[in-house]
Amino acid sequence: MENKAEKVKPYNSGKGKKKEVEIMFDNISGKYDFLNHLLSLGIDRKWRKNLISMLAATKPASILDMATGTGDLAIMTSKFIPSAKITGLDLSRGMLDIGRKKIIERNLQVKIEMIQGDSENMPFETSTFDAVTVAFGVRNYENLLKGLSEANRVMKNGGNIYILEFSKPKNTFFRFFFNLYFKFILPIVGRLTSRDPKAYRYLFESVQAFPAYEDFLAIMDKAGFKSNNYKIQSFGICSIYHGVKL
Ligand SMILES: C[S@@+](CC[C@H](N)C(=O)[O-])C[C@H]1O[C@@H](n2cnc3c(N)ncnc32)[C@H](O)[C@@H]1O
Repeated sequence: MENKAEKVKPYNSGKGKKKEVEIMFDNISGKYDFLNHLLSLGIDRKWRKNLISMLAATKPASILDMATGTGDLAIMTSKFIPSAKITGLDLSRGMLDIGRKKIIERNLQVKIEMIQGDSENMPFETSTFDAVTVAFGVRNYENLLKGLSEANRVMKNGGNIYILEFSKPKNTFFRFFFNLYFKFILPIVGRLTSRDPKAYRYLFESVQAFPAYEDFLAIMDKAGFKSNNYKIQSFGICSIYHGVKL
């Protein structure tokens, strides 16, 4: 199954998607947290909490948070699973710098480590982690299957992966408002508050092109995950995908 989102790039500058994504997140890193919570009206916290409560039920001791960005999911996970050792990995130095500051402010340095690296080619041994999480990261991967296969490689047998990503509401009524918001309102707010309006056009286009629901489960299956399933969040604005490495 083709993933059209791999062709959607922030700038179309001739550089590969991965490089453009890194540059974009470096550019918007200073405003990312503020805009993230503003544009989602704070609902993203609820989605993250839902993912963490599923994760916590599996009692993982070591967790990899791929595409960790400024570390919001890693930090929240540490609050709900204080015994876990969490590793956050991200391409963007700018995003990680902000994440590291937040970790120091919360005195979580012993529990969370932030590493710069590529989810599609990770600097970890095979079978290292009990669980892997990704929030709003996989849509940005240059090669989704490679990123998910790498996640599978670094997980221990029996480990769980939880992926939070935008999907499109299945109901046409909700999808109409979802598209209206993403296509018109979000870019206006983005243009007013950020110096990189292309980032918000990219957000809309990448969400439109990204495989959701059964299409995404098929890619998880190809990457080696079993018992794949998803839970719809807020009428399908987002979904939490779950799979197991057996
Ligand atoms: C929308 S942000 C999400 C950050 C964070 N997970 C959150 O929930 O707020 C997407 C992040 O994915 C990172 N990213 C994209 N492709 C990546 C890759 N191949 N390897 C590592 N990080 C990547 C970007 O640098 C960016 O920080």
